[in-house]
Amino acid sequence: MTQPHSMFEPARPPREEKRQRVLMCAPDDFDVRYVINPWMEHQIGRTARSLAREQWQNLRALVAERAEVELVTPAAGLPDMVFTANAGFVLRNVAVVSRFRAEQRRPEEPLFRAFFEARGFAVAAWPDELAFEGAGDALIDRGADVVWCGHGMRSADEAPAALERIIGRRVIGLRLVDPRFYHLDTCCCPLAGGYLLYYPPAFDAASRAAIEAVVPREKRIAIDEADAMRFACNAVDLDGCVAMNDASPQLQKRLGDAGFVPVLTPLSEFMKAGGAAKCLTLKLSED
Ligand code: ARG
Repeated sequence: MTQPHSMFEPARPPREEKRQRVLMCAPDDFDVRYVINPWMEHQIGRTARSLAREQWQNLRALVAERAEVELVTPAAGLPDMVFTANAGFVLRNVAVVSRFRAEQRRPEEPLFRAFFEARGFAVAAWPDELAFEGAGDALIDRGADVVWCGHGMRSADEAPAALERIIGRRVIGLRLVDPRFYHLDTCCCPLAGGYLLYYPPAFDAASRAAIEAVVPREKRIAIDEADAMRFACNAVDLDGCVAMNDASPQLQKRLGDAGFVPVLTPLSEFMKAGGAAKCLTLKLSED
C-alpha cells in the first residue's frame, strides 16, 4: 500500500502573506473629561469604565483575527489617547505625527512620536502652527491613487497641501461642514476595491463634487443621517470585513451586496467621546 502522498512531501511553508499591522491603545485612563466635540457635551465623567474596556477588548479581538495588533502604552491624564487614528498619518515608512488643535490632546504628540521612532518610521517635519489630526482626517483611497484630507474642523485648511508636499501623492482636501462629523473618518471610509462609504451632507458642495469626480457612481455608498449618527462610516476595513459600531439592516445589506462582511461591535462608551471603531485603530502597514 502506498503511503498518502502528503506524508513524503515536506511540510509546505505557510503562504507568505504579509499581515497588516494595526496600532491600538488600551483604554486604561479613557473617559470624557473635557469637551472638544459635540459628542462630548454632557458626557463628562459618564463613561462606564468596565464596559469601555469590554468593548475595546472585543474590537481588539476582531482586529487581531485579521491583523497584528501593536499597542502603545497609555498615559495617565490623556483620556483621548485611546483614539490612535489621531496618532498621525502613516504611509510606507513615513509617519506624520499629529499636531492637535485642542491643547488637551497636545501632550499625546511626543508619546506617539516616540512610538513611531521606536518602530523605525521616519517622522516627517510638520509646521508647528498647522493643526493636523493624522488618520482622523487623512484617509488613503483604496481604488484611486489619492489621499483624502478633511479640513475646516480639526485639521487646518492648509493641511491637505502640506501633506501632499510630504508624501508625494495627490491629496484632495475635503471641507467638513457639520460639527458632529468633525474628523473625516467620522463621515467617510474608503473601502477595498475603490468603494467609498460616506455621508454626503457632512461636506460642502465642492468637496462632494471632488468625491464624485474620483469615485465612480457604482462605488459610492452614500449613507443617511441615522447611519451616520451610528458612526457607520467610522469603520475598520480588514480583508473585506468591515467592523463598525452599528449600521441599519439596509446599510448592512448594501455592504454585503458590494462584497463586504459588516461586523457590528458596539462602542457606546467611546461614542460619548465622539469616536468609534476606526478612531480606535491606526493601520501601520500602508503602501
Ligand atoms: N474625543 C476625541 C477628540 O475629540 C475623539 C477623537 C476621535 N478620533 C477620530 N479619529 N475621529 O479628539
